[in-house]
Amino acid sequence: MLNLVLFGPPGSGKGTQSEKIINKYELLHLSTGDILRGELADKTELGIQASKIMASGELVSDEIVIGMIKNKLLANQDAKGYIFDGFPRTVAQAQALDDLLASFNQEITSLISLVVEKNELVQRLLKRGQEMGRADDNLETIENRIAVYEKQTSPVAKYYENQSKYNPVEGMGTVDEIFKRIESVIDK
Ligand code: AP5
Repeated sequence: MLNLVLFGPPGSGKGTQSEKIINKYELLHLSTGDILRGELADKTELGIQASKIMASGELVSDEIVIGMIKNKLLANQDAKGYIFDGFPRTVAQAQALDDLLASFNQEITSLISLVVEKNELVQRLLKRGQEMGRADDNLETIENRIAVYEKQTSPVAKYYENQSKYNPVEGMGTVDEIFKRIESVIDK
């Protein structure tokens, strides 16, 4: 099975590139951000609680997101492989994911890390904020999301580097140019 982690700071293009990867490689897309926004759209207790944390740019608790991923994996055992987008975001989440996959005799194949300059991240997210009105796409929250990424999430890259699974990819350029770089990592 091909099990990928698509990694990178807010606005680096994880969601955009995930769409292209799942179309070509027929993987199941598991985005914790999308699952949490779905919970909010359904007005569940979890969604309402998480929305306050998301609006501040902080992370929802490890326990909650690990539980969500576990449920998705249990419900989708027939998938050809998974692409994890926005998860794991802490080393504790990465360890839990390894344990979960091991319990299904699976493992992460590769982490693909999109490398994008900070100014470009901010510009992309401000533009989306204007166009789509996502609650966390305002300057104050964007700055905090990037700071949270640097402090709490970037150590996840080292965790996979220690397993020889870390693959940085230049995330600047057009969507198609970046996808070509990702394809060459996957096909290798
Ligand atoms: P999440 O939904 O995961 O958001 P994020 O990581 O901040 O990422 P984004 O969706 O903003 O960016 P992206 O990298 O997917 O880029 P995209 O393709 O969308 O998380 C939101 C919140 O949920 C977190 O802050 C946290 O509170 C909570 N959460 C989620 N997962 C969690 C977890 N595991 N643990 C704890 N809490 C969790 O692109 C961004 C924009 O740029 C788009 O408008 C796109 O069209 C544009 N764009 C993309 N590529 C290009 C390009 N090449 N050139 C120009 N524009 C581009």
